Amino acid sequence: MTNAPLPNPVDLREALSSEHRELEKKMQFILDCVQRGDAEDMRESWAAFADTLREHLDEEERDMLPVFEQLNPALALHIRADHAKIRAGLDERAIEIELHTVRANKTAEFIALLREHAAREDGTLYAWAKDPSNLGLVRRTRARLGLDTDAAPHTP
Ligand SMILES: [Fe+2]
Ligand SMILES: [Fe+2]
Repeated sequence: MTNAPLPNPVDLREALSSEHRELEKKMQFILDCVQRGDAEDMRESWAAFADTLREHLDEEERDMLPVFEQLNPALALHIRADHAKIRAGLDERAIEIELHTVRANKTAEFIALLREHAAREDGTLYAWAKDPSNLGLVRRTRARLGLDTDAAPHTP
């Protein structure tokens, strides 16, 4: 875990929410490649997609969940469990690509998992982060948890 200063939660929420849409588009492109048997395009797209998705999960776990789980531990746990499933899915897909055994049905299942997870976050974690009135709470809680190097409160 890094001690990077907290991004503005509204900006962070908008950035992560639009990343959900981008990731889904990229994964849909990968599925299209699988369905038409275009292994080269799929391999090229996969590496960038997997890196972006892993960074997305890491960012949520670093910048949002430590505070959110103080308020809603059960939902935060659910989101972390989803992340573990998604990381396992990424590892499985990477092995399939390596072994040239990629199947459209498994790829489609993975997209469904991502879609379900994104919907859960958009309606809960991201909706909460979108509310600017939570900014002070986020900063205070992060300071209490020792997550920020720059813990001094300041006006958004
Ligand atoms: Fe997530
Ligand atoms: Fe997310």
